[in-house]
Amino acid sequence: MADKRPIGVFDSGLGGLTVVKEIIKELPNEDIIYFGDTGRVPYGTRSVDTIKKYAKQDEAFLLSHNVKLIVAACGTVSSVAGDTALSLPVPFFEVVSHAAKEAAKLTRNGKIAVIGTNATIKSEQHKAEILKVNPNLSVINCACPLFVPLVEEGWHKADDIVVLETVKRYLKPIIDFGADTLILGCTHYPVLQDAIRKVLGDGVTLINAGTTTAKAVADFIRKENLENQNGGERKFFVSDKPAFFKEQAGVLLGPDVDTAKIEKVDINSL
Ligand code: DGL
Repeated sequence: MADKRPIGVFDSGLGGLTVVKEIIKELPNEDIIYFGDTGRVPYGTRSVDTIKKYAKQDEAFLLSHNVKLIVAACGTVSSVAGDTALSLPVPFFEVVSHAAKEAAKLTRNGKIAVIGTNATIKSEQHKAEILKVNPNLSVINCACPLFVPLVEEGWHKADDIVVLETVKRYLKPIIDFGADTLILGCTHYPVLQDAIRKVLGDGVTLINAGTTTAKAVADFIRKENLENQNGGERKFFVSDKPAFFKEQAGVLLGPDVDTAKIEKVDINSL
């Protein structure tokens, strides 16, 4: 049985678009409703209580659009506020567990690095999921709190000296540790992938949580017969700065995605 309702996706800002991009690759005929909390980004420096409160409002907004499932396209929400999904009336997907499983599968030397926001790294959720697969693996966690502001500012090019120096400084412990696999534990980070690759070299496998999560969503939709055969419409909502979001969404999603429909909403009213 087909289900024409849209997929709901949310993040604190632009980063979740890296997940949307992967969902579109897997499921081009699905309608998508995206909410980016651009008025309150970043989430990763806030308390767990505040992140949970924001996540609940974001989920309520998506439910008001009659979504068939919700993707928390935010490493921070997935790490510390997953329990807000327990009372949801629709299936919920987070971006931690699938990425962790993939890293545990792909590592060759047993050394995995995780980068994320302060809140994500403090939660140690990725490490817990990795060790569930194989308790003999070694994991190094590194918070990179300046990465989200860089991306939200539109600074991500690998030849930008500020970007490159910031990446070098944060990733130094990972190079010293000798990890062969790196989980991009924040959905903003794939935007910095070229700079990260330049610093780490080709020997390190980068795990994009958007890719692994989109595959899990696609598998679920097919298995449960929830596919939309003739959709493909995407609507974007933000809590502030729609013009800036529009400019950056084009950079992140590519020219084929119509980002004409961007609306500002008052998320505090939910
Ligand atoms: N994209 C969000 C994440 O994955 C960014 C968090 C933030 O707003 O600090 O963690």
